[in-house]
Amino acid sequence: MEFKTLLFEKDAGIGILTLNRPKQLNAINGEMLTELSNAMDNIAADDEVKVLIITGGEKVFAAGGDIAFMSGADSLTAESFIALCHQAFDKVANLEKPVIAAIAGMALGGGCELSLCCDIRICSENATFAQPEINLGIIPGAGGTQRLARLIGPGWCKYLTMLGDPIDADTALRLGLVAKVVPPDQLMTEAKKIAAKLAAKPPGALRVLKKAINYGMNVDLASGLAFEQKVFALLFSTQDQKEGMKAFMEKRKPVYKGR
Ligand code: HXC
Repeated sequence: MEFKTLLFEKDAGIGILTLNRPKQLNAINGEMLTELSNAMDNIAADDEVKVLIITGGEKVFAAGGDIAFMSGADSLTAESFIALCHQAFDKVANLEKPVIAAIAGMALGGGCELSLCCDIRICSENATFAQPEINLGIIPGAGGTQRLARLIGPGWCKYLTMLGDPIDADTALRLGLVAKVVPPDQLMTEAKKIAAKLAAKPPGALRVLKKAINYGMNVDLASGLAFEQKVFALLFSTQDQKEGMKAFMEKRKPVYKGR
């Protein structure tokens, strides 16, 4: 896959998508969103990619939406820009494979919101997070009032979005915004280690697991539990369930086929 604002590589079942507008600190513009949307379609269809890592490289994750573009936008332009953004970000959130955000440096505004679409977030010790939109006269528009509130609770979400101040990596860890903080030179090693573990899990069960959790975040408890029961039972019609339990009984490692 060739892009102008993204880099993509894959190796041993792991895809790595890197935001690549370094001069603008990976600020997210329409071109990047269109390319992200196309990249997610390709990744969804690529059986060689079992797990995806999204990163911004070693210096910055992303400084948010492109202010140079947004500064000249009217409501109509903003409406189509944010619709494009949601279309691309939803594809990340709904990808039927695990997605890991590996965050170094700043994850601001839309950058932080992109990381919220990922299933697992890890960051380097130098990472900072903020939803600074309020300081520009707007509010988060790419999930920051919704995904962030669901992840860390409305209290912390209001604190971050109303003040707009950055938080450091340890605070992000304490809030549950990230699962792990590592030294900067360990970030990609750790992300790949987690990805390799996930790539060895039964993909069908992972797919259903992700769907059950995401679905449950948006419905009442009874509906979520009903969905969980149904898909739990459904997995017993897969070969991977037979293999997983047979391997346990035979005291050996399972070999999953994704069926
Ligand atoms: C466009 C940006 C940018 C952005 C940085 N740049 N952030 N361009 N949109 N969001 C550009 C700068 O203009 C500058 O270009 C270059 O990147 C380097 O930035 P500096 O400001 O010189 O670097 P530094 O002093 O290190 O400060 C870094 C920074 C600051 C703290 C990240 O740039 C900053 O506050 N940026 C804005 C962050 C923000 O408010 N994000 C939320 C956006 S709103 P030149 O050409 O001058 O070298 C949002 C909502 C949209 O995200 C949601 C949909 C996607």
